[in-house]
Amino acid sequence: MTEPAYTPAADRYGSGMPFRRCGCSGILLPAVSLGLWKNFGAETPYADSRAMVHYAFDHGITHYDLANNYGPPPGSAETTMGRIVEESLRPYRDELFIATKAGYEMWPGPYGNWGSRKSLTASLDQSLCRMKLDYVDLFYTHRYDPETPIEETLQALVDIVRSGKALYVGISRWPTEATRMAFNYLREHDTPCLAYQGRLNLIDRSMQQSGLTDLLRKEDVGFVSFSPLAQGLLTDRYLAGVPEDSRMALNASLRRDVLTHELTDRLKRLNNFAREAGRTLAQTALGWVLAEGATSVIVGVSRLKQLKEDIATAQLPSLTSDELEAIRKIMD
Ligand SMILES: NC(=O)c1ccc[n+]([C@@H]2O[C@H](COP(=O)([O-])OP(=O)(O)OC[C@H]3O[C@@H](n4cnc5c(N)ncnc54)[C@H](OP(=O)(O)O)[C@@H]3O)[C@@H](O)[C@H]2O)c1
Repeated sequence: MTEPAYTPAADRYGSGMPFRRCGCSGILLPAVSLGLWKNFGAETPYADSRAMVHYAFDHGITHYDLANNYGPPPGSAETTMGRIVEESLRPYRDELFIATKAGYEMWPGPYGNWGSRKSLTASLDQSLCRMKLDYVDLFYTHRYDPETPIEETLQALVDIVRSGKALYVGISRWPTEATRMAFNYLREHDTPCLAYQGRLNLIDRSMQQSGLTDLLRKEDVGFVSFSPLAQGLLTDRYLAGVPEDSRMALNASLRRDVLTHELTDRLKRLNNFAREAGRTLAQTALGWVLAEGATSVIVGVSRLKQLKEDIATAQLPSLTSDELEAIRKIMD
């Protein structure tokens, strides 16, 4: 059956999505970006994935975050993105900023994992094939590989940019000292790191404690924040138990034992605070990460209603210093 033709909203850049400069680069990213980690693989009906991507694009989301292993099964989120590109978004390729990554186990044997030149280069070729793209906008090393010489991983990134298969490179989940070395190496090889992708949210503030957020500020490198809603904990999803259709019920990536009575109590207080200020809990959590210096928060959503709520964050006024202080008191 032929899919209905897609025409993007004419006012997609006038709908209120702010764009923020990614470090000291020429790239602007939307304050809210869409991640395809969990809900865009082969197990999600294609029409649902397509509707969420189209809604995002219609509301100013230009930045889509993928990785070789997103699905499930691994690879299938990129395949979904490729189908959407092929069927509707190809004419708008120059309006899209598509990121992917390699570094976690993807195929059998010694070359389908970690950070060797062989693994990164082959993985990107596979990603381009699945997404039906000639190049990605941003290619990340998905994690630090302590066994591979750092220069090998970083030179592979430099060479990938020189080959034209990625326009920019990024670092994800690397520890602070290795990140500092990476920024220097990449800058010295004329391929400055566009963005660091790490987890910062109201429950996990380890990036601030380890000095990573200070390093990004000092080096003026963009900061793309993943799991800004702590995989859904920082939403109204778990205020009254664990819904059957939630990530916690369905997916091993969010363990039930993190939802303690103490955390539930804090979340309820944060929810009351948010509601009194005319926001939702999710919007308050996203606003906090943006206020802490993220260039963009990448949200993962399982349904359109969530995406609408998360996007609406971008139209709300920034959290004031009094509000930030009150939030800190609830969560500390
Ligand atoms: N670099 C890395 O290593 C890394 C690691 C993880 C993620 N990421 C990237 O970051 C993206 C986001 O990560 P994430 O999916 O963990 O993000 P998240 O935004 O913290 O959590 C997403 C989940 O929160 C719930 N949710 C979102 N908006 C909601 C709303 N308004 N109301 C109620 N519930 C809401 C949904 O849960 P339900 O499914 O229960 O409905 C959704 O699946 C990923 O897609 C990926 O692109 C990168």
